[in-house]
Amino acid sequence: MSKNFVVAVCGATGAVGQEMLKVLEQRDFPYSKVIPLASARSVGKKVECKGEELTVQELTEDSFDGVDIALFSAGGSISEKFAPIAANAGCVVVDNSSAWRMNDECPLVVPEVNPQDLDWHKGIIANPNCSTIQMMVALKPIHDEAKIKRVVVSTYQAVSGTGHKAIEELENQVRRLMSGQPVVADVYPHQIAFNCLPHIDVFMDNGYTKEEMKMVNETIKIMGDPSIKVTATCVRVPVFYGHSESVNIETELKLTADDVRALLAKAPGVTVEDYPEKLIYPMAINASGEDDTYVGRIREDETIENGINMWVVSDNIRKGAALNTVQIAETLIERDLVRVP
Ligand code: A2P
Repeated sequence: MSKNFVVAVCGATGAVGQEMLKVLEQRDFPYSKVIPLASARSVGKKVECKGEELTVQELTEDSFDGVDIALFSAGGSISEKFAPIAANAGCVVVDNSSAWRMNDECPLVVPEVNPQDLDWHKGIIANPNCSTIQMMVALKPIHDEAKIKRVVVSTYQAVSGTGHKAIEELENQVRRLMSGQPVVADVYPHQIAFNCLPHIDVFMDNGYTKEEMKMVNETIKIMGDPSIKVTATCVRVPVFYGHSESVNIETELKLTADDVRALLAKAPGVTVEDYPEKLIYPMAINASGEDDTYVGRIREDETIENGINMWVVSDNIRKGAALNTVQIAETLIERDLVRVP
């Protein structure tokens, strides 16, 4: 990594944008300059990276002149409008929204799983959905070894996935309920404190939510295997940071629980945490702030011939968003792909 890059962070004041700045610092990303961008509301606000105070600028059509890499996390409509503008200015975009994920011109990448897809980028690279990313990291070694036929996943997703306002909403609701006051639900359609909402993103004609269909479609694109069948139920739970997933897998070849533990123990980005006799298993409170995806409760599904159940937990803001985005940028640099063809 010889060159130092000019990096724009779009949505730098948001939950993910703030974490992106932290990850750039922690990984000593080879930048010469970081430009924090947000809405006009945030102009003049200060953010920090590598001990340097940076002043937030408004995201405009001219923001990308001289920028090499833009990391976007300011929502789908912003990405839809500004990612092509950035790419046209010669800046490679890594976009954390859902706007470009299923576009055939845009690779959808988890660096531990399909880094080779970066080779055909045309300027915009999509970061997958947070729930999909952590599942991919855990599923890839199993798929390579025994070919996955079907996945049944249920998620327990933290409110930070919805952004700053949702974190505040959960905090406020807990505080109000504990002092006997009625709650106000603004971000979510119902009270999230002490509750579970089987509803993430909008409902679609087939009865699934968009979040659930992201897990179905993104898995196929990332794995590059349309034969994998995925069915998902996505649930928002009153947890601040860290998504948990119950994942049931049916494989073509037989794998024992020990086989899966051994495979995942050597998988990049995975930590096996599976000592139930010592009450040790992955938990959101432990995964929060960490980079790895934690897998535990690995056991054979005794109702089918070749089945495995496991519990997969990761920090949705880090591996599910900011970290994976920065890892994509690092992989672009390693593969000498920081240019718009
Ligand atoms: P701002 O703080 O100025 O509103 P979160 O997901 O935590 O809610 O954060 C969303 C991020 O996207 C924030 O940094 C927010 O900036 C940014 N954002 C929202 N709307 C716009 C916009 N119209 N232009 C640029 N950035 C935006």
